Amino acid sequence: MRTHYCGELNKDHLGQEVILCGWAHRRRDHGGVIFIDLRDRKGLAQIVIDPDTVEAFKTAESIRNEFVLKVKCKVRPRPEGTINKNLPTGEVEMLASEIEILNASLTPPFMLDDDSITESIRLEHRFIDLRRDEMQGNLQLRYDISKNIRQFLDKEEFIEIETPILTRSTPEGARDYLVPSRVHEGGFFALPQSPQLFKQILMVSGFDKYFQIAKCFRDEDLRADRQPEFTQIDIEASFVNEADIMTITENMIREMFSKVMKINLPKTFNSITYREAMERYGSDKPDLRVTLELVDMTEVMKDVDFKVFSSAANMKNGRVAALKIPGGGALSRSEIDSYTEFVKIYGAKGLAYIKINNKEQLNEEGLQSPIVKNMHEKALASIIALTAAENGDLIFFGADKKKVVNEALGALREKIGHDKKHLTSELWAPLWVIDFPMFEYDDEGNRWNALHHPFTAPKDGHEDLLDSDPGSCLSKAYDMVINGWEVGGGSIRIHQQSLQSRVFKALNISDEEAKEKFGFLLDALQYGAPPHGGLAFGLDRLATLLAGADSIRDVIAFPKTQKAQCLLTQAPNQVDEKQLRELHIKVRTTGKTENKND
Ligand code: AMO
Ligand code: AMP
Repeated sequence: MRTHYCGELNKDHLGQEVILCGWAHRRRDHGGVIFIDLRDRKGLAQIVIDPDTVEAFKTAESIRNEFVLKVKCKVRPRPEGTINKNLPTGEVEMLASEIEILNASLTPPFMLDDDSITESIRLEHRFIDLRRDEMQGNLQLRYDISKNIRQFLDKEEFIEIETPILTRSTPEGARDYLVPSRVHEGGFFALPQSPQLFKQILMVSGFDKYFQIAKCFRDEDLRADRQPEFTQIDIEASFVNEADIMTITENMIREMFSKVMKINLPKTFNSITYREAMERYGSDKPDLRVTLELVDMTEVMKDVDFKVFSSAANMKNGRVAALKIPGGGALSRSEIDSYTEFVKIYGAKGLAYIKINNKEQLNEEGLQSPIVKNMHEKALASIIALTAAENGDLIFFGADKKKVVNEALGALREKIGHDKKHLTSELWAPLWVIDFPMFEYDDEGNRWNALHHPFTAPKDGHEDLLDSDPGSCLSKAYDMVINGWEVGGGSIRIHQQSLQSRVFKALNISDEEAKEKFGFLLDALQYGAPPHGGLAFGLDRLATLLAGADSIRDVIAFPKTQKAQCLLTQAPNQVDEKQLRELHIKVRTTGKTENKND
């Protein structure tokens, strides 16, 4: 029907007759001449309709926003003074000879260039929202990313293999989405949280380089970087160690950044151990664009009079840490108050600080702070020395259980870094976080849980710690972090049944439970499983980062809300009694679940 896209016309097409199809983005009447900005996937073209072309002019008068049009026109230069340098097509305009209305449109619920519309209105009318330039660009970018990654993996001889969506529960740690079976009364499928078990089985079967762009489902608390249904770039290979997987996936990401975004990431990504990441940044996914670092003060604070610090310093799992803000002496009282409120979100009880007026004067005059009077000179001198503070700096402190201090100061570090642009460097900061612990202690359940998943191999030489000191046992797991986002994670797996049993034992998973949950994997491991490992990237997260979008929802065509609903289709919804009966299901309502339209 058409000869060109609207958005690709320029001076090279001058004098050509073209046929365009698209949507009426805007119509303007200018003293007898009508202008229509016609829009398609590639951009806007300005159509001019002269009253002399009587038929076309009559049609143009009835055109409203978002009508679908077919226009026959001739490309001509825009008159002097009307050139629009901001538009790729801004040097030309199209003089219409014929216009056909292919379809009318109701008045859209919002104008495409209105930035003030709420996200719920956008999601409810997603078909309109997706017409916006930004969303067209985001989905194109998402496609370019997956296309590039497919090409890379294909070149490296990986093959894509689909694994089931109707399956058994996989142990990634979130709640499952369940699908009732009609044929097997009382039986349920689980939607996969990841293809983890299947990809390991594919290794046993000899597909030594597997990948899949796979849909995964997790019923977990949603945040800006999480969706209940998301997409992984899932990878697994045999006869590999950590370095092999890290090298190939790092090359894949580097090539994708370079080809899709023209961004050159460093030749090799830095690696940092989990422990060092927690100590220096209070986070296992630090944003290294922020130049601030935490400095440990636990030893220094053991014997000070300020009880908040000394008791945390002497607690078994306690920590006192400092965060120096260069030039932070200029922070206002109200800024400090708002940062104090901010850390409370993470459970911190306060946010002590010292303003360094004169670092030579170790008293309340030189060090302006509500807590200095309760600290001896030696501690004050250590604070100055360990943080390398200068006059005009400010130092914040956190004192509590390690977990609270790390979360609170870790988040504060990134917040201040982004608030104060001069505390943020480089545009892209990728890194590997390695040497994760095998287990984390669950205080409530009084047990060890797998930090990654129970098939992760322990680090060489750490096998004996499985029984004697599980808390110190490190694993062969690695995460790729870019600008504070965990974009991917994986590990070398256990391929020998005897080691797998010891890990289950450490996790307090009985033989029966293991057999019942993933017996099929354990069986497979006994039939010549090769050493293997892999990793999965979050495609949605990569696309969000590269698009510079605020939320993962902006790179997904039809996402769910924070409350795990689809506003377009109004899912989840009630189903009729007959369907439930067939599925052997009786609904128990508690009255506690929220109204679906909340
Ligand atoms: P993991 O659970 O770390 O590992 O997931 C891998 C990557 O998937 C992305 N991701 C998500 N993205 C959007 N919404 C979510 N709810 C969500 N959850 C995870 C993240 C994360 O890094 N089977 C292992 C991988 C392996 O060991 O090979 C796994 O699923 O970017
Ligand atoms: P207070 O003794 O409660 O008046 O607190 C003195 C200072 O210590 C205030 O600036 C508080 O914000 C700060 N503070 C209180 N509890 C903590 C804590 N757990 N960690 C860091 N600072 C704290």
